[in-house]
Amino acid sequence: MNVFITKNIPEAGIALLKEKGINITINPTENVLSREEFIKICQENDALLNVGSSNLDEDFFEQCPNLKGIALFSVGFDSVNIESANKRKIPVGNTPDVLSRATSDTAFLLMQSAARKSFFHHKRIINGEWEAFDALANLGQELYGKTLGIFGLGRIGFEMAQKCKAAFGMKIIYHNRSHNENAEKELDAEFVNFETLLSQSDVLSVHANYTSENNELFNKDAFSKMKPNSIFINTARGKFHNEEDLYHALTNDIIWGAGLDVTNPEPMKQDNPLLELPNCCVLPHIGSATYEARNGMAVCAAQNIIALSENKKMPFCVNE
Ligand code: DGY
Repeated sequence: MNVFITKNIPEAGIALLKEKGINITINPTENVLSREEFIKICQENDALLNVGSSNLDEDFFEQCPNLKGIALFSVGFDSVNIESANKRKIPVGNTPDVLSRATSDTAFLLMQSAARKSFFHHKRIINGEWEAFDALANLGQELYGKTLGIFGLGRIGFEMAQKCKAAFGMKIIYHNRSHNENAEKELDAEFVNFETLLSQSDVLSVHANYTSENNELFNKDAFSKMKPNSIFINTARGKFHNEEDLYHALTNDIIWGAGLDVTNPEPMKQDNPLLELPNCCVLPHIGSATYEARNGMAVCAAQNIIALSENKKMPFCVNE
């Protein structure tokens, strides 16, 4: 089997593929391929191991009729038109679980960073603005005993809730497609409707799978229902929030702060006004960027390709 890998991945995955005699071509350039180059190389291969954010839409599937399977180097699969893949019986694999700890750590980090305005304070030092002790200036807020609202309580949301409960004794409320009985039992988490999630959360953290149905769900209307002391955290996908509405909420004391690991578009432009705000912390989509998580993702993606090469069901398949 010939597999095209769009960007290099940790050796743990490459070694597994080589062990099985799978022929791999890794994009030899540091550059992102043009759409034409990308499609051409996919047409020449049996499978794709996709690292990053290629748009695998209907047109892509139409132009690559010989493709037998796709292994994503991500847990999110919003880059793939699953209907198009299903129509052609093309399995799509992802990398669940292995990045739940790292991604929830990032949400936790952003929550604390926003609560203590740590990015802003760091910038003050860089800008030579560290002045005499001031008992009143730029204060943060503590999280002890506050309410954490989770939008999308799957594996990553569960780990975020677990950390917040253990560290700060936070009360957990959540909104999800269905009840998470484990979270209700283990964390005393309470299922609430979306309106209640908005109105009761002191910290609202997004951990759902992105679909077009929840595009910009966190918009002017949603922010207006949140508490003035609340912190909005998004480590899932940038398309969950409307950026202008978030800016408006942050600059008009509608919400207190925000922590984002994801933006729309990515990369975020250097002159984005959110980067100037003292109450907004932005990271460049590094949720899974630990050695441990990325090694795990490489192994999952390789296991998906190996299963495909052996005509078996992918172990982490999102559409079969
Ligand atoms: C994921 O795994 O979905 C991360 O967001 C990286 O894309």
